[in-house]
Amino acid sequence: MSALTYGDYLRMETLLSLQEPRVPHTAGSAAVLAEQFFIITHQACELWLKQLGADLEAAAEALLPPCDPHDLELGLEFLLRSVDVIRVLQQQLLVLERLPLRYFAEFRTYLDTASGAQSAQFRRLTALFGTSHHQGSLYEAFAAAAEYHGRSVDEVCRRGVETGVLHRLAEGLVDLGNGYWHWKVAHLALVSKMIGEQSGTGGSSGVDFLARRVTRPFPELRRLRGKVHHP
Ligand code: HEM
Repeated sequence: MSALTYGDYLRMETLLSLQEPRVPHTAGSAAVLAEQFFIITHQACELWLKQLGADLEAAAEALLPPCDPHDLELGLEFLLRSVDVIRVLQQQLLVLERLPLRYFAEFRTYLDTASGAQSAQFRRLTALFGTSHHQGSLYEAFAAAAEYHGRSVDEVCRRGVETGVLHRLAEGLVDLGNGYWHWKVAHLALVSKMIGEQSGTGGSSGVDFLARRVTRPFPELRRLRGKVHHP
């Protein structure tokens, strides 16, 4: 058997065959290239979402009691990697701001009703981050871990570094939540630049709809941290 190559290991042939612009070639090569740019950015986001969702589920699992100090460190490791991955996801959106509007207008009709709102992997994140009405599984796992180690979240926020890894987990969650929030804001800015007041391909009103969905995860943690100003 021949030695494994880079291309075989990474399934490069399959990977690079997955970008299929729909705009007709008669539109010109720059329009085709612009749509390829659009597809690659979305596919790259979905790959990072695959990693992010799995890492965050692993973090929540590590924190669920019974959890020893080693489990807490493991949860923190997953959490900190996720903070950096979500930053990469935000950067992907900034890159897409270089999509020339005239070409986007040309290939957008070929998207039909396809929309990021249908991203199953992004929806998976909602269960982890929660909404403004209910805490997600990440926060619940963290609160349970704190309780298992004899601390309330309020105490972790009040006592800070004294609570060691629980404090680092709380800080990691806030950074992660802010990363998610930054992603939503960056997406909103991109959409506003690319479609103005037009409605979305998924049927929503577009920017107004998305603006209402820009929420800050982990409201309880933010509230409790804020109390540090008034001991
Ligand atoms: C030119 C670029 C983009 C435009 C114009 C755009 C537009 C929109 C619009 C209008 C919506 C609302 C639903 C609808 O009516 O379609 C939406 C939702 C969404 N888009 Fe994009 N999008 C762009 C890029 C991206 C990228 C690169 C991703 C990465 C995966 C993405 C992921 C999402 C997600 C996850 C939602 C649902 C958001 C939520 O539930 O709050 N979009 N997009």
